[in-house]
Amino acid sequence: EPAKLPPPMKSNGTKLVNDAQHPFKPLRPGDMRGPCPGMNTLASHGYIPRTGVASPSQIIEAVGEGFNMERNFATFITYLAHLSDGNQVTDLLSIGGKTSKTGPVGQHSKAPIGGFDFHNTFEGDASLSRGDSFFGDNHTFNETIFQEFIDFSNKFGAGKYNLTVAGELRFHRIQQSIATNPQMTFLSPRYTNAYSESAFPINFFVDGRHYNGQLDTTAARSFFQNMRMPDGFHRAPAPIGGEGFMQIGAAHPLKSGRNVKGVNSYKADPSQPKLGEFCKIYEDFVKNIVVPFYPKPTGDLKKALNINLGRLYDALTVVNGSKCPRLFPFGK
Ligand code: HEM
Ligand code: MG
Repeated sequence: EPAKLPPPMKSNGTKLVNDAQHPFKPLRPGDMRGPCPGMNTLASHGYIPRTGVASPSQIIEAVGEGFNMERNFATFITYLAHLSDGNQVTDLLSIGGKTSKTGPVGQHSKAPIGGFDFHNTFEGDASLSRGDSFFGDNHTFNETIFQEFIDFSNKFGAGKYNLTVAGELRFHRIQQSIATNPQMTFLSPRYTNAYSESAFPINFFVDGRHYNGQLDTTAARSFFQNMRMPDGFHRAPAPIGGEGFMQIGAAHPLKSGRNVKGVNSYKADPSQPKLGEFCKIYEDFVKNIVVPFYPKPTGDLKKALNINLGRLYDALTVVNGSKCPRLFPFGK
């Protein structure tokens, strides 16, 4: 049965988080790391198990403690990832590739249990520091791609990554993928996540003591490449999520879609959720990802799925600010 959600944090202001209890340690053989610089860093500082395999509860607690990610926002994206990429019965998710460390497969005959690296569930194209899956590696830090993060910060942000830079770089990476990746896919939930993740470096990687929306590129590299908090790093001064994503989208509006016939054939798909249209994101996710992965669950699996879908829905209600119609694909 899924572990209880963590209690709310006792304090939610800034504090030293690169502290004596959470020292950076290099990878050991077998430790999993993947496409998310935030979770990689939390694992390398021991906020989640250093193996890189954790329960959703551990992840939600860690992103709050380590980065002050708002609890409901964290719960929503963690269950998007867990229901896509994790083992529902053992309650374990890999922040990297597929691994036997998430436990027995059981009834998951169609669910990949592929971890964060699994392509086109949560992970997707046009990332800011990783390549597209089509080119063979969607999870390792890519210096050539990250150089654009630096170049754009220099060009549009006087050497810092900020919302203006994020708007330009997000669009540029999408255009690059459209022009080079014949299978470029930018559908829900990747579409909204991509804009949200473009705001994360501003919201979470800027030190809480001088929280001014301007990320220094040396600090950026420390997280993105080295999975390491800078010395003395303090988390954000108040709980935060994907704030800024609508502004990043507004810099160069682009509809959700994909390349339909090779490179440069991007076509908007009008049936897709729009940016930040959370009720539709939820509905599309349940119908098109969760249900196909779990055609006829029974017993422990069904029970775990219902608990996890309930947590996704409850968190969504807070993130969305109002209720969406709830779906019960596996009964009540
Ligand atoms: C990207 C999962 C929390 C920062 C990603 C990706 C995944 C992921 C699967 C890959 C998407 C892609 O680029 O294709 C999660 C989950 C979280 C979480 C399940 C649970 C709460 C965080 C936190 C931070 C963060 C707390 C920052 C402190 C980022 C950034 C990217 C990213 C900056 C974009 C990387 C890039 O475009 O190269 N996340 N993440 N994430 N995540 Fe996380
Ligand atoms: Mg990606």
